[in-house]
Amino acid sequence: MSNFKKNIVLIGFMGTGKTSVGKILARELDRPLVDVDQAIEEKEKRKIAEIFEKSGEAYFRAVEKEAVREAAVRESVVITTGGGAVLDPENLDALRRNGTLIALSAKPETIYERVKNSRHRPLLKGEDLLAQIQKLLEIRKPHYEKADLTLDTDGQTSAEVAARILKRLSQNEE
Ligand code: S3P
Repeated sequence: MSNFKKNIVLIGFMGTGKTSVGKILARELDRPLVDVDQAIEEKEKRKIAEIFEKSGEAYFRAVEKEAVREAAVRESVVITTGGGAVLDPENLDALRRNGTLIALSAKPETIYERVKNSRHRPLLKGEDLLAQIQKLLEIRKPHYEKADLTLDTDGQTSAEVAARILKRLSQNEE
């Protein structure tokens, strides 16, 4: 697989900026953006929060797996995934087969600040949001660590993170 055809796949916890960074990368590289969460909502004709609420997380993960499979077989696209998409090793394998996996990371406190006012994330509801983030992050860390490259996003804008990714990708081509 030539680097040109390889997908760029953004993985990482909720609130690490995957969607915003993905949009910039797609624009800069002139590649289509495939957002897995958006594909799920289009398939289901309803919002993710509603899928969780009415059909449960297991159902959501099954639809997510299908959407990941469809995204992963494409070529030369930027793929942005939901924070839980890479927990399933088959999803991770499918995305890796055709792509470079880039994990975005951030401290729990940073994630808290970024997501505290968002209402569309079913997994981040309830009493102690920071504690919830810390707990989930701990469980998911080993999965995100399987990326080819990890970039810390604390204190940085999406444009800065995207610029760093583009620089790393061009270095890899040399
Ligand atoms: C999820 C993250 C969400 C979305 C769903 C589940 C997760 O995507 O896929 O709410 O399990 O971490 P973002 O990471 O884009 O918020």
